[in-house]
Amino acid sequence: MELLDKLKWRYATKAMNGQEVAQDKIDTIIEAISLAPTSSGLQPFEVLVITNPELKKQIRAISWDQSVVSDCSHLLVFVAWDTYTAERINYMFDLTNQVRGFENQGWEDYRQMLLNTYPQRDAEVNFNHAAKQAYIAFSQAIAAASFVGVDSTPVEGFDADELDKILNLREKGLRSCVMLPLGYRDAENDWLVNLKKVRKSKEDLVTIID
Ligand SMILES: Cc1cc2nc3c(=O)[nH]c(=O)nc-3n(C[C@H](O)[C@H](O)[C@H](O)COP(=O)(O)O)c2cc1C
Repeated sequence: MELLDKLKWRYATKAMNGQEVAQDKIDTIIEAISLAPTSSGLQPFEVLVITNPELKKQIRAISWDQSVVSDCSHLLVFVAWDTYTAERINYMFDLTNQVRGFENQGWEDYRQMLLNTYPQRDAEVNFNHAAKQAYIAFSQAIAAASFVGVDSTPVEGFDADELDKILNLREKGLRSCVMLPLGYRDAENDWLVNLKKVRKSKEDLVTIID
């Protein structure tokens, strides 16, 4: 299948059948998340991969009782940094120097610019910026899942404060953003599976400026 065929095959799955997704497919999806671009390369988020049935049920209860949250194989939870700190920024800049094996004045000046800007900003502004980066990776995960024939459901319909409590995120300087149940569609019980995709016209989506 071509890329667009796979993206057309994907839909926000409403019912999953509990079948387990093989580890190599999960690994591919995680690798796609890791390869996502992020602002200044900071990767200001983490991904929790939940397979524990009891925990999935607990999360379903604070997620509008959406069945995919517990009937999925793997539940990915994208969590973002609650703010930017000097330590977090330095970690990624130091890692870059270590991996590339050299230091560069331009890069160090850029580090200093971020250190002089981000940590002083309001934590809510920083969290929102970090969350945007998590969503880029989230989108890449959705595309990667379709590429390896795995169904997924983007899920924002949950109580984020409750999820933060269940997963003890705030203590770790993290906040939940969005979830991605991964699994296989239960076609017989999914009202959406055979419905046409609805998208606005390309004219309404795109403006060409020559
Ligand atoms: C950030 C985000 C959050 C979403 N949250 C939910 C959700 O909680 N439950 C759900 O069933 N679908 C959710 N959706 C799915 C959208 O409703 C769906 O992607 C959209 O209607 C387009 O349909 P399609 O994905 O099947 O093409 C979400 C989608 C996105 C991108």
